[in-house]
Amino acid sequence: MICNNLFFLKGQRWKFQRNKMSPAFTSGKQKAMYSIIDACSKAFIKHLNKLSQDTPIGLELDIKSTIEDLFTDIVCKCILGLEMHSIENPDREYKRIQDATLKPNWRLHVKQVTQFLMPYVDRKIRIADKEIEDWFYGFAKKNVSFRNEKKIERVDLLQTLINIYNENHNMDVNSEDFGLRQLAANIFVFIVAGYETSALTTTFFLQKMALYPDIQERLRQEILTVKRSKPNGQLEYEDYKGMTYLSMVLDETLRMYPVLPIYVRRTIAAYPIPHSDVTLDAGTYVITPVIALHYSSKYWKNPNQFDPERFAEHNKPNIVPGSFIPFNEGPRQCIGKFESRLMKFVFTFYYSL
Ligand code: HEM
Repeated sequence: MICNNLFFLKGQRWKFQRNKMSPAFTSGKQKAMYSIIDACSKAFIKHLNKLSQDTPIGLELDIKSTIEDLFTDIVCKCILGLEMHSIENPDREYKRIQDATLKPNWRLHVKQVTQFLMPYVDRKIRIADKEIEDWFYGFAKKNVSFRNEKKIERVDLLQTLINIYNENHNMDVNSEDFGLRQLAANIFVFIVAGYETSALTTTFFLQKMALYPDIQERLRQEILTVKRSKPNGQLEYEDYKGMTYLSMVLDETLRMYPVLPIYVRRTIAAYPIPHSDVTLDAGTYVITPVIALHYSSKYWKNPNQFDPERFAEHNKPNIVPGSFIPFNEGPRQCIGKFESRLMKFVFTFYYSL
């Protein structure tokens, strides 16, 4: 059931879901998410301040798990409309489901092998335990009934999924059927894709800032300058667009720590590779080695060095197309590519204190 989502589907089924969901990822929707991130980030910083006041000798934090709590709050509110208050409630029920969803499991390892070697077996392997599938299915069912019966319309992604469900469940055209299973599978994938990716990237970002205080200071000054230019000192959605150094630092983090190390595609027809005499047969698997491209000395000078200057406006013409692909390219590139930029808001709050 859980594979019936945008990330795993192929062909017409994928195309149908991608077309229906794309309108949910516009800059207008991003703007609506801004206030959510604003509130979550402020609560997060308040919490950090309190912790450090309670620990006068210096606060030691597991930054990854702390950042995960923050992104749980952001993603659950933006996607599902749920208030988690994860930072204050580390023992919540949802945390158990989330940990179980993301922890490495044997199925994923087997799937990684069978998807190339035994695609027919692969389709029969679940990627999550039944308990997790049931949790997401139950969540979808409860929330569809609740919002439909009470005629509640929200601005979150769940609403987009419910609207698709309302228009397309029990469709005669199989590829366009979007029932509770499809809805639950997409909630699952948006949580996994939205939360783990952003939390990981943010963790690496902060680690680099700790290692490079000069870069951190320049970044902080950029954010403070924009903040000071505001009449009320309040940063707004549009403000982060002018923060070019912030983009450079984030891009360099994504170059060094792309969330996925490889991308896998399969040709659906014979494909002659341009400028070569090689033709790939239909059904050939093609692997893009993201890590190898991001660290290739053919494309990057001192690739092991953290250097945001590579992404400065005047250096951008030197970047070879295809050598920096943290969100992949083409029709199956990350649908949340621009939402992921919402991480910038988080950094903005963090450094504007
Ligand atoms: C740092 C943040 C993120 C990174 C680095 C990232 C990276 C990627 C990459 C590389 C792919 C393509 C995988 C492939 O080609 O095999 C992808 C696909 C996808 N991402 Fe993201 N992502 C991020 C954030 C998000 C967010 C915030 C969301 C949703 C709210 C999201 C939802 C998705 C979905 C649904 C797909 C599948 C799209 C399709 O196949 O049509 N991602 N992501």
